Amino acid sequence: MMKLVSNNPPDFDRLGALLFDKDDLLLVWPEARFPFDREQWGERLSSHPGNRSYFVAFDGQIIGHVALLETDEAETLALSYVFIKPHYRGRGLGILLMTLVELEAKTLGARALRLRVRTYNPRARRVYEAAGFAQSDQTDTLVIMRKQL
Ligand SMILES: CC(C)(COP(=O)(O)OP(=O)(O)OC[C@H]1O[C@@H](n2cnc3c(N)ncnc32)[C@H](O)[C@@H]1OP(=O)(O)O)[C@@H](O)C(=O)NCCC(=O)NCCS
Repeated sequence: MMKLVSNNPPDFDRLGALLFDKDDLLLVWPEARFPFDREQWGERLSSHPGNRSYFVAFDGQIIGHVALLETDEAETLALSYVFIKPHYRGRGLGILLMTLVELEAKTLGARALRLRVRTYNPRARRVYEAAGFAQSDQTDTLVIMRKQL
């Protein structure tokens, strides 16, 4: 069974331990400093009091992370810092995670989600498309996708 576990205030030791691999870290956040920089993540995650971080628990293990960040758009949250540990990828858990995150966003009062993904990350784009997100904008490698809830 998959569950979202609130990570507020964020446990940066645990988050940093998940994001120890440079390639993963840069897929999750291309501007992230390597190695994991708790100050940079702290600033980002606490940039708005409504921002929320979650660990992804699966069968009692922490296997990933996701965040819902406030945006400048009404009732719209930014789905961010999506990560599932390599060992757990490729078995549909990414798509399952999207359903849990949408439920959580609705509980928080959101009516839409938006996200940023890179053209060079086809696996993540596939997951977001399968979850019903559609591209709304693109600048170079940066693609913005949205979904009404
Ligand atoms: C993105 C991520 C969370 C997805 O989780 P996951 O467990 O791998 O996803 P799923 O197994 O649910 O689905 C993967 C889908 O991508 C497809 N896929 C895998 N590699 C692919 C590729 N190179 N090109 C296109 N599609 C690909 C799979 O076939 C599957 O689609 P399907 O169910 O239609 O067959 C995970 O891979 C991850 O943490 N990646 C590293 C960090 C990252 O990229 N984060 C997102 C930043 S925007």
